[in-house]
Amino acid sequence: MAIDQYGRSINYLRISLTDKCNLRCVYCMPEDITFRPRAELLQDDEILRLVRLFTEVGFHKFRLTGGEPTVRANCVELVDAIAHSPGVKTVVMTTNGLLLDKMAQPLADAGLQRVNISIDTLDPQKFKKLTRWGEVGDVWRGIYAAEAAGLGVKLNSVVVRGYNDQQDVVDMARLTLENAWQVRFIEMMPFGDVADFQQAGIVSEQELRKRIAAALGPLSVVNGGQLDGEASLYQLPHALGTLGFISSVTQPFCASCTRARLTADGRLRLCLLREREVNLLDPLRQGATDAEMLDIITKAIWRKPWGHKLGQDIIPLNRVMSEIGG
Ligand code: 5AD
Ligand code: SF4
Repeated sequence: MAIDQYGRSINYLRISLTDKCNLRCVYCMPEDITFRPRAELLQDDEILRLVRLFTEVGFHKFRLTGGEPTVRANCVELVDAIAHSPGVKTVVMTTNGLLLDKMAQPLADAGLQRVNISIDTLDPQKFKKLTRWGEVGDVWRGIYAAEAAGLGVKLNSVVVRGYNDQQDVVDMARLTLENAWQVRFIEMMPFGDVADFQQAGIVSEQELRKRIAAALGPLSVVNGGQLDGEASLYQLPHALGTLGFISSVTQPFCASCTRARLTADGRLRLCLLREREVNLLDPLRQGATDAEMLDIITKAIWRKPWGHKLGQDIIPLNRVMSEIGG
């Protein structure tokens, strides 16, 4: 078991398969971003070795993220190998859905269980503005393909003031009336080059809940207020689905955090909102033994931080989201 200094048991690893993406969401990366050369990224065999090592210290849930994980070569083969690695119980993915039309079935066959699909607005023009060139119709094809393939589906919406914080939120919430989906609203977090934009555009959970309730009726608490992962859950009257609010900035969920992140270039990041990382790529490539790697990993996890310091204006600037994997 991997335990940190606060007694939290850490067993959920989010792996960024690539820093590349086929979109350029305004809150995620600058338009002119340059991606890392491939040689600096973890290779397939390196990822699989790390998955094996993490399961040895009790990790059993793995989420593949990016950038956009489906643009990585061999994505399906990697899912297959991870899902069939001893000790792995759950493999899920966060994706923009653009390639799911073709890939959902192969991914499900490989052992993927669920997808969180990012869709920030239903309005095609606004979707294009937020993603810089995306077509929302492609995401819908991906959502339906994922459902048809038997994958669990959650929809993620990052709310940005002035882009999708008004009618868009209500329209997204309305989807839960007739679909058994979880639609989740994510507070924008400040990172790297786009931090100023992000801090100006954050919309609080309180504001969103008020807007949705005014349009669609009172929200009732689901789960007795217990967090579902990182989301607090609510339901509209007579809805089939649920609404989730992920408010990492205004209501951090550090006490129940079970996760660590592996960046595409092989750094173990212990908290999304803190800069500290531990380099796993170099020791891997310098021939560290399993015992040496496990020592590095368990020591890193022990020192997992608690709490972000955004309130004191300490913002993680060393990377943008696409390199960390949301
Ligand atoms: N704040 C919150 N969520 C973000 N994502 C990307 N950038 C940010 C940010 N600054 C989300 C995406 C996607 C996942 C990869 O991370 O919408 O759901
Ligand atoms: Fe790509 Fe997701 Fe970042 Fe948008 S938020 S640019 S889809 S990685």
